Amino acid sequence: MGSGTLVQSSGVFVRSAIYPGSFDPVTTGHWDLIQRAAKLVDRLVVAVLHNPAKAPAFSVDERLLMLKELTASLPHVEVTTFHGLLVDFAKSQDAQFIVRGVRAFSDFEYEFQMALMNRKLAPELETVFLMPKEKYSAVSSRFVREIGSMGGNLSDLVPEMLKARIAGRLAGRP
Ligand code: PNS
Repeated sequence: MGSGTLVQSSGVFVRSAIYPGSFDPVTTGHWDLIQRAAKLVDRLVVAVLHNPAKAPAFSVDERLLMLKELTASLPHVEVTTFHGLLVDFAKSQDAQFIVRGVRAFSDFEYEFQMALMNRKLAPELETVFLMPKEKYSAVSSRFVREIGSMGGNLSDLVPEMLKARIAGRLAGRP
């Protein structure tokens, strides 16, 4: 089956989307977006970028495990890792859509450029922007890492079920 088609060999229409990111670590904003995107498609693949050039706070395995636990109640949500170009991964998954979150105007320029570049590389893939709940507008993995490393309260910044684990891993980190 080629990328961009909505029909599986069984003849059933399948709308598939990739939600890519670093998820270092997953935040309440990411979780809000996963739930929104999951309502729009038949299959949502949450894809953690494996970038060996970067030193993340959480290993890819840790990030995958946390996302899998978080999304366990959503049977049509898959969690996996990818490396290389996002568009190549999306095609390998027969996805038609890339989902990205836009929290504020400041996100827009980077997201817009990335969407246009991905469109140039793979015109058949459509980027879809979703907005998380306003109360998550300022939530980012970078702030979570910073606040967590200084022992700050991560309530409302990371999903409750993962809060203790994330706080424990970040505590005392430089
Ligand atoms: O959570 P992030 O760090 O904002 O996610 C960025 C991500 C993973 C979506 C982006 O860096 C990406 O797609 N990387 C894969 C390499 C790629 O396709 N680069 C070209 C983008 S135009």
